[in-house]
Amino acid sequence: MADLFSPFTLKGVTLRNRIVMSPMTMYRSQDGRAGDFHLAHMAARAAGGFGLLFPEQIAITADGRTTTRCGGLYDDSQVEGWARVNALVKEMGGVAAIQLGHTGRKGSEVAPWEGGHQLPADHPHGWETRAPSALPYGGDHDHPVHELAVEEIHDLHQAYADAAVRAVAAGFEWVEMHYAHGYLGASFFSPLANRRTDRYGGSLENRVRFHTEALDAVRAVLPERIPLTMRLGADDFNPAGATMDDAVAAISMMKDHGLDLADVSFGMNTDQMVDPVFGEEAGFVPRAMRIKEEVGIPVGVSWNLGRPQVADRVVRAGLDLVLLGRPALANPHWPVWAARELGHPAPFSLVPEDYGWWLENFRGHAPSIGWPEVAPPAPVTVPEQERRTPAPA
Ligand SMILES: Cc1cc2nc3c(=O)[nH]c(=O)nc-3n(C[C@H](O)[C@H](O)[C@H](O)COP(=O)(O)O)c2cc1C
Repeated sequence: MADLFSPFTLKGVTLRNRIVMSPMTMYRSQDGRAGDFHLAHMAARAAGGFGLLFPEQIAITADGRTTTRCGGLYDDSQVEGWARVNALVKEMGGVAAIQLGHTGRKGSEVAPWEGGHQLPADHPHGWETRAPSALPYGGDHDHPVHELAVEEIHDLHQAYADAAVRAVAAGFEWVEMHYAHGYLGASFFSPLANRRTDRYGGSLENRVRFHTEALDAVRAVLPERIPLTMRLGADDFNPAGATMDDAVAAISMMKDHGLDLADVSFGMNTDQMVDPVFGEEAGFVPRAMRIKEEVGIPVGVSWNLGRPQVADRVVRAGLDLVLLGRPALANPHWPVWAARELGHPAPFSLVPEDYGWWLENFRGHAPSIGWPEVAPPAPVTVPEQERRTPAPA
């Protein structure tokens, strides 16, 4: 049975464990480029033992960023910075992954700690957002939205492919499409945001066409060894929005278009949510298990999995990858801490050889090194559906 520390192979890429740094927008880029911050941020977590590491949603066009301080790969000049980051990640034993995305009607924002609101198109750091339908998100995201013409949709598919080519040149070894969190992919999928009457709207098959065509465009330019994965806004938690039934059908269709692994998350196409599981430990696990069982594809999951016993349990129950967001910010050495908590025989084998040698072998008073003492195991909650037997990958 696989556990959190088992290697995981997808296509031609093998991860040293199942622990992933989930993509997190950092608002630290200039003109979409990666700089010293990204090098420190990614390399520290690679040295801390994470198997797969995403920097953040990386935009396929300039208007696909969240703010003007967000990352992009829409220009060849942006390759070099990410290449520098990815080389050090690899040297530290990690695999660098890219999440290609477009923010759609949720772009043109300011950072969350500056209020998170949307800027108008005539602001120096704003732009007119583009989406499947001319429907603003609402609230403080109320500026006019441009409805994409079919030719513009085709241009976006080309932009995905072009960004994927640059991603490979920059040394990313894993490509994920961001179809969640109210951004462009999520809004094509959700009836709350997609009111089109052409072949990109209406029926479920039409609402998934944007995604399958983008997958085709990217798969066509990716070397065979590189996995192509996707994070879907699987559940809008709203009776008029996308549901898990839709997600099962959509991911089955995407599987036929070269999808190698699915990750499911919130739709976030509306603030009007009924019982969203934001505060629940392992709250998305039952939904991820359903995808695994009914679609039969490798599946990753995030949201509130930062207790090592819970993360390990998720892999033992049959899911393939555990994505950690805030725990990776809180503790760049989370994998080593988790290994110690879970009784791994050689926790320091997860850090680079030189760190590991000093931590294992140097004479001294072990508790004074600074690693937290191993805590007695805490009770682990197991969501109902997790008890079912998973289907093979
Ligand atoms: C600062 C921050 C930025 C985030 N940015 C992204 C993003 O760019 N793409 C994405 O898919 N999710 C993003 N997320 C969501 C995380 O990837 C993750 O799914 C979420 O934080 C739940 O995991 P956690 O409970 O381990 O934090 C972000 C989360 C945080 C905290």
